[in-house]
Amino acid sequence: MRDVTLVQIFDHPITQKYVKRSGMAHAISCAYHAFKLAKTYDVSPDLAAKAALLHDIGHYTWYRNGKWDYSLYKENDIHAIKGAERAHKLLIRLGEHPKSAKEIALAVLLHTDSYLPHGELHLKPLQKVVHLADEADEEPSGAHHYRIIEDDKARTMLATLDQKIEDYLKEIEIKKLNSSS
Ligand SMILES: [Fe+2]
Repeated sequence: MRDVTLVQIFDHPITQKYVKRSGMAHAISCAYHAFKLAKTYDVSPDLAAKAALLHDIGHYTWYRNGKWDYSLYKENDIHAIKGAERAHKLLIRLGEHPKSAKEIALAVLLHTDSYLPHGELHLKPLQKVVHLADEADEEPSGAHHYRIIEDDKARTMLATLDQKIEDYLKEIEIKKLNSSS
């Protein structure tokens, strides 16, 4: 039913390189939050979990004299733009349907408005879910980017979430069949 699983995304070297840079523990925690929020907002739990897992894949390291420079980051950051493109390329390579890859990329692009000129942004429910999932796991001073998770544990957690998503999608399918018969 799904073209790509979370475990497949996790196993890809691009994910290993870039999602680890911004924090795998944070990404997985967000994917779990997004799965729960997807039910509330009635959006695809598959797309929500994937977008949340990949939402920070575009982060760049802003170091000056060996130290993280927050002002440099604040001024120059485009991680959501970079991440949307990176997530899209990765998903297409893995065999994701182009329509889903676009939806996920858009949710990555709009998960934060920190890089946008001030104004009102009207998010679609999927985009809102990913934004809320990120907020739900945020810690003061960006500490959520530094939480560590073992590879084995990360993979197991994503396999568990894959199963939850599949069960939920089956449940929806059965409900649809019952209501149409
Ligand atoms: Fe984040």
